[in-house]
Amino acid sequence: MHSITVRPESSDDIRAIDVVHISAFGGEAEAQLVSTLRESASYNRELSLVAELGGRIVGHVLLTRVPLRRNGDEKHLLVLGPISVVPSQTHRGIGSKLIQASIQLAKEKGYGSIVALGHPEYYKRFGFVLAKDLGVSCNLPAPEDALTVKEIVDGNLAGGGHIEYPEPFVELY
Ligand SMILES: CC(C)(COP(=O)(O)OP(=O)(O)OC[C@H]1O[C@@H](n2cnc3c(N)ncnc32)[C@H](O)[C@@H]1OP(=O)(O)O)[C@@H](O)C(=O)NCCC(=O)NCCS
Repeated sequence: MHSITVRPESSDDIRAIDVVHISAFGGEAEAQLVSTLRESASYNRELSLVAELGGRIVGHVLLTRVPLRRNGDEKHLLVLGPISVVPSQTHRGIGSKLIQASIQLAKEKGYGSIVALGHPEYYKRFGFVLAKDLGVSCNLPAPEDALTVKEIVDGNLAGGGHIEYPEPFVELY
């Protein structure tokens, strides 16, 4: 039985990462988003994690540094996503490993918070809460209840703020 390894992406992983997102989401939009971000100033290879099982890439999560603005102040946090696991390997904790590794990486890099847009019930188990409950909004036309945040540093989001997702995310939504 192989174990799951989570590590930063390498240039050899790019095609496999596309395949993961296309098979998991059932379309090309998220793979295209990752490709576009990879070519943008927002991209940092250290913040792009793959899950490997027996030498095969079976999951991927991208973290992207974004600004949160409040009353003229600006701080940066990490967007978690897209995240996906190939359908044949779901329900065995790979998604959880990717999220836990993301939280650990955010801590190591000194970020105060992470934001995730998607299935709130999934993210809640990792300590994410609804962004609106902390007064946090974003520039995407997504349902309010789909935006969740996790403070890595207690009180980091006190007072709330507005998150500016980079342009490629805006184009996707
Ligand atoms: C969501 C996803 C990353 C989870 O990966 P995974 O490796 O199966 O995750 P884990 O094994 O750690 O956890 C599985 C649990 O997550 C929960 N879960 C999965 N998808 C969920 C969803 N859409 N909403 C709420 N909970 C969900 C289930 O409770 C599941 O529990 P079970 O295995 O007892 O059924 C994977 O299903 C996937 O790639 N989905 C398609 C892409 C996607 O929706 N990405 C997230 C966008 S926000």
